[in-house]
Amino acid sequence: MNNNGIKRIGVLTSGGDAPGMNAAIRAVVRACVFHNIEVDGIFQGYTGLIAGDFKRLNERSVARILGRGGTILKSSRSKEFYEAEGRVKAAEQLKKHGIDALITIGGNGTFTGAHLLYQEHGIPVMGIPGSIDNDLYGTDHCIGFDTATNTVVDAVDRIRDTATSHNRLFFVEVMGRNSGFIALKAGIAAGAIAIILPEDEMSVDELVDTLKASEESGKSSSIVIVAEGSKSGGAYELAKKVTEKYAEYETRVSVLGHLQRGGAPSCYDRVISSRMGVAAVEGILQGRKDVMVGLVNDQETYTSLEESITRRNMPNRDELRIARILSI
Ligand code: F6P
Repeated sequence: MNNNGIKRIGVLTSGGDAPGMNAAIRAVVRACVFHNIEVDGIFQGYTGLIAGDFKRLNERSVARILGRGGTILKSSRSKEFYEAEGRVKAAEQLKKHGIDALITIGGNGTFTGAHLLYQEHGIPVMGIPGSIDNDLYGTDHCIGFDTATNTVVDAVDRIRDTATSHNRLFFVEVMGRNSGFIALKAGIAAGAIAIILPEDEMSVDELVDTLKASEESGKSSSIVIVAEGSKSGGAYELAKKVTEKYAEYETRVSVLGHLQRGGAPSCYDRVISSRMGVAAVEGILQGRKDVMVGLVNDQETYTSLEESITRRNMPNRDELRIARILSI
């Protein structure tokens, strides 16, 4: 293999961390070693890229990180990289460190920046989708989504114990700035009475009718899952609007917040991270650039970064229908 002239690759994690990012870093580093390519870890995302915070990694640098949450490379949301001047500095650092291609692990914002870096400076970039929100087009699942959803289900199961004991109605807010994937999957798995998604909002009146009907059929407690990006304004707002119209239940709100991003990655996340990390390196060596690696129908695929950031995955409407059937 001539490796298309690639001798050294840089890897960074950017945006919200996601469980499995470490497994992806490990896979990138070990795939580079396997193919006789040097690899530099770039710390703190695009902030470290601009500042020149690079470190050569080898197969031992990534030992015992496969099962660890967070990212050993650390992460950031760099405002400077949003500006063209920031990207000029980043490109200079990459040249200075002899980096021939850059692998960025992150979500929509990360890939928007990577795409611009390629367009403005011709640096070959490759994205690996890491986001608990799971909203990137070009992959069935993003790294971290499975683990985050399992964390939410565990939390809601616990909340249900206390909700049942006190005959209460709980509004549980889960992450998902613009996306209802976590809410939908966890809502089905934890048996929520209603799931409020940014993509398909249930009206307050509809929700009140659902609660009334189930209360009349003998239900003494209930859980409503609300995605943080819902148009209702989040769990506190929605709970207020509902109790103004229907005060039958004693109501409580629980915002799960950042605990959803932490913890050891699930088996599924470790496996997809490992596969995508290797495919990212091999894709670069085959000459692919300005693309995101993904897994679609269990096959490694490459989607242009442009497409991955302008299109988006949508939650499965049939799952929402099923959730409604089952929540009576
Ligand atoms: O992008 C993932 C995500 O966890 C979103 O679900 C959430 O809205 C956001 O990050 C929170 O970001 P931060 O950690 O910067 O507050």
